[in-house]
Amino acid sequence: MLIIDGKKVSSDLKTEMKVRVDAHRATTRKVPGLTVIIVGEDPASQVYVRNKAKSCVEVGMNSSVIEMPASTSQEVLLAKIHELNANSDVHGILVQQPLPKQIDEFAVTMAIDPAKDVDGFHPENLGKLVMGHLDRCFVSCTPYGILELLGRYNIETKGKHCVVVGRSNIVGKPMANLMLQKLEATNCTVTICHSATKNIPAYTRQADILIAAIGKARFITADMVKPGAVVIDVGINRIDDPSTKSGTRLVGDVDYEGISPIASAMTPVPGGVGPMTIAMLLKNTLQSFERVNGLL
Ligand SMILES: NC(=O)c1ccc[n+]([C@@H]2O[C@H](COP(=O)([O-])OP(=O)(O)OC[C@H]3O[C@@H](n4cnc5c(N)ncnc54)[C@H](OP(=O)(O)O)[C@@H]3O)[C@@H](O)[C@H]2O)c1
Repeated sequence: MLIIDGKKVSSDLKTEMKVRVDAHRATTRKVPGLTVIIVGEDPASQVYVRNKAKSCVEVGMNSSVIEMPASTSQEVLLAKIHELNANSDVHGILVQQPLPKQIDEFAVTMAIDPAKDVDGFHPENLGKLVMGHLDRCFVSCTPYGILELLGRYNIETKGKHCVVVGRSNIVGKPMANLMLQKLEATNCTVTICHSATKNIPAYTRQADILIAAIGKARFITADMVKPGAVVIDVGINRIDDPSTKSGTRLVGDVDYEGISPIASAMTPVPGGVGPMTIAMLLKNTLQSFERVNGLL
């Protein structure tokens, strides 16, 4: 069984991006800049934001984090986004989710200039993705990272049956739409399953490529997988484990131990899809910079 190593691919990608950022700095005296806004003090969000900032620095990009109190009004947050939209040193804007209750997440998504929406959540970017204009949009980072993994590991996709379990706007829906595109690394027959799907195993057992984005620990078990399938695990779930120092550990939406003897290739958790998400955020920020500076 082939282990699809997202940690290694993301590290390779960062090395490649650093070379490009350094070259751009030498020729234009400018570098890409990502600004992340965090509202409130959610500890998990703070870790994600710190990791994003650290990764920016690793590839030579500018990164800034704007911390706003949990009591921030929608009006104040939107004003900050408009200010960043107008700032030519900012090439990517990301508002870390979840947001406090008083803030409408959709209004925030709509406020970000689509040309700086490096998360790929804006309907203009999602719409272009659905229409197959991947070179003119930002693809949301997790599905984009999975596409990159499939490509780098030469996983055959054309004509394959891809089953995506989960239909969130940030993972499941863009993922399924990507795999449907008539492109070299996609071109699949696609099925989407969700919480109202009856008899999910009947669908997952038909999958040549199975992508799990559910948010339920080890939901996909060996009896749900066709022998030889490629299994991509998006899930990040913390479960109790008294054998570890912290008393918990991370597992995916897939039962890795049970499925690895029958799958042909799999992503581990951690070290699979997770590291790719940040790498693709940087890639989108670099792309934004290259677009505005005519470097593409
Ligand atoms: N690795 C990464 O970088 C990364 C990035 C993003 C997310 N994640 C992880 O990926 C997982 C999914 O994230 P998300 O944002 O897509 O989650 P989400 O918004 O909660 O969506 C979960 C999806 O799974 C479906 N679902 C839930 N229970 C189900 C069940 N029993 N049977 C079938 N489908 C079910 C839901 O169906 P309904 O639509 O019917 O409710 C929904 O479409 C989470 O563990 C998250 O932490 C990882």
